[in-house]
Amino acid sequence: MTNKDSWNTEYLVKDYINYDVLQKPEKTIFDMVWGKLSNWRMLDIGIGLGRTTVHFSPYVKEYVGIDYSDKMIETYKKKFPEERENTLVKVGDVRSMQEFAANSFDFVLFSFNGIDYISHEDRIQALEEIKRVGKKGGLFVFSTHNLQYINKIYTIKHNNSLKYFLYQCYRYLRLMFHNGLPGKYRETDFAILNDGAHHFSITTYYIKPAAQIDQLERLGFKNIRLFSLKTGEEIERSGLNEIDQDSWIYYSCEFA
Ligand SMILES: C[S@@+](CC[C@H](N)C(=O)[O-])C[C@H]1O[C@@H](n2cnc3c(N)ncnc32)[C@H](O)[C@@H]1O
Repeated sequence: MTNKDSWNTEYLVKDYINYDVLQKPEKTIFDMVWGKLSNWRMLDIGIGLGRTTVHFSPYVKEYVGIDYSDKMIETYKKKFPEERENTLVKVGDVRSMQEFAANSFDFVLFSFNGIDYISHEDRIQALEEIKRVGKKGGLFVFSTHNLQYINKIYTIKHNNSLKYFLYQCYRYLRLMFHNGLPGKYRETDFAILNDGAHHFSITTYYIKPAAQIDQLERLGFKNIRLFSLKTGEEIERSGLNEIDQDSWIYYSCEFA
């Protein structure tokens, strides 16, 4: 089963049905750009059931939301049968967005790690597509999993329940089966892991922050800033290799 097949299952769609708040770094970035939103044409990629749509579409000049999962978009449309006049939501894949002209969006958002469910080659293609549709000087915001968090994924947590403990042991063994030991990734910049998300039904791209910055710079993105999932605050660029408490990180950068 591919990741796309998994995102098309009722089971995964249900996991997002009641999630409607902004994550801390998203809130920080929302507050930073709020005054500019009314002039912006926004592209929101991988919207799922419209968690970010609810927060951004009322404030931007024009909002376009896409997701490559038919099931997500179908369920979104049931959840929000009446669309705002400035809003268009449709099925679309970040890897090929030929329906959108070059230099046509002031703000592109790919929230909650949506970019992590495609291969490395497709990720580069996706970032090139995003750069093509973004206006020079415009903003691109996305989040991606942090490979330096890997030891935490393997942690066996305890509470007073034997059932919970046995599940944690089972989870640990499955992590070992799919990915090997975490030490294997010490010298690696990025990896595609099965981290147990959605009961091991999807694989996820993890990347070290320094490597992510390098990837963006090579593609021509400028003014790259990092925001912590845990605190929502901007992360200093000086200690990149020590960032191991955030399972994923938000990045903002400009189209050059
Ligand atoms: C973790 S969910 C987040 C959903 C929503 N953004 C939210 O925050 O609740 C990731 C979403 O990205 C979408 N996605 C993954 N790869 C994609 C691609 N290549 N093009 C468009 N959407 C994609 C998935 O279908 C899924 O809905």
